[in-house]
Amino acid sequence: MNSTQNVIAGVGLADRPLKSRWPARMDFAQSASGLVLGLFMWGHMFFVSTILISKDAMWSVTKFFEGYFVLGVSYPGVVSIVVAGVLGLVMFHAFLAMRKFPANYRQYRTFIGHRRFMAHEDTTLWWVQVVTGFLLFFMAAVHLYQMMMHPGDIGPYGSADRVWSGRWWPLYLVMLFAVELHGGVGLYRLCVKWGWLEGKDANASRRKLKAAKWVLTVFFLVLGLATLGAYMKIGYEHRAQVGEKYTPAWAVPAPKEKAQ
Ligand code: HEM
Repeated sequence: MNSTQNVIAGVGLADRPLKSRWPARMDFAQSASGLVLGLFMWGHMFFVSTILISKDAMWSVTKFFEGYFVLGVSYPGVVSIVVAGVLGLVMFHAFLAMRKFPANYRQYRTFIGHRRFMAHEDTTLWWVQVVTGFLLFFMAAVHLYQMMMHPGDIGPYGSADRVWSGRWWPLYLVMLFAVELHGGVGLYRLCVKWGWLEGKDANASRRKLKAAKWVLTVFFLVLGLATLGAYMKIGYEHRAQVGEKYTPAWAVPAPKEKAQ
């Protein structure tokens, strides 16, 4: 009998439950996209925090990403393309992660019961991932849309004006904590899940990994808060000249910029 023939009325062997490889593939894709995003956020924090060195340093980073030092003209549209890629990756990662969220009250109660019963820090950290990930659905989308549509407004004054006069700092403050907790826990969980850096004694290396995770999270939170403070201060001092662009003395007249 071939598999398309009926076994029970209306149902053939082709409909029998198959062991699918897709859950494993999706898990892998979720880990891989999370890894790329986690590493991206480390880079992002270093680039954004160049404002702590000087306005000129942040301006140079901005112009570098606009291709100015290679092409001699600024193309903010290049930034839009990169942001669109990051937004796509965030959506892909969020779509895959959603499979793991409790889908109804019963599943939620079951999870909370397990968490309380086990009282294991890694299970609690998983819940931190769920809550911060959910918050990031909204906050990251708002930030990325702004960056994608107005890449030419990124710069020492443009960013500081947005943070202060544009009232973006409350969003950034909450998003900073959400993203640093989410990224830190996420990278730690990747190591545990795939056995990276496991060494000979898995328990001892897990303790070390957890310590490293907290050191990194605190480091990026302190760096992020100092950075946000710097943008707020510059924005406050510049509040009467909102819209004016910063150009370092050595780069006057301002470089040509291609309209988007
Ligand atoms: C290519 C994509 C991205 C670009 C070009 C970008 C650019 C920027 C810039 C220029 C700032 C400084 C403030 C401003 O100009 O408004 C900023 C701040 C910030 N961004 Fe992004 N961003 C990107 C992706 C993301 C993502 C995916 C997240 C998190 C999910 C994120 C989280 C933050 C946070 C938390 C701050 C505040 C940082 C602080 O004050 O210390 N960004 N971003």
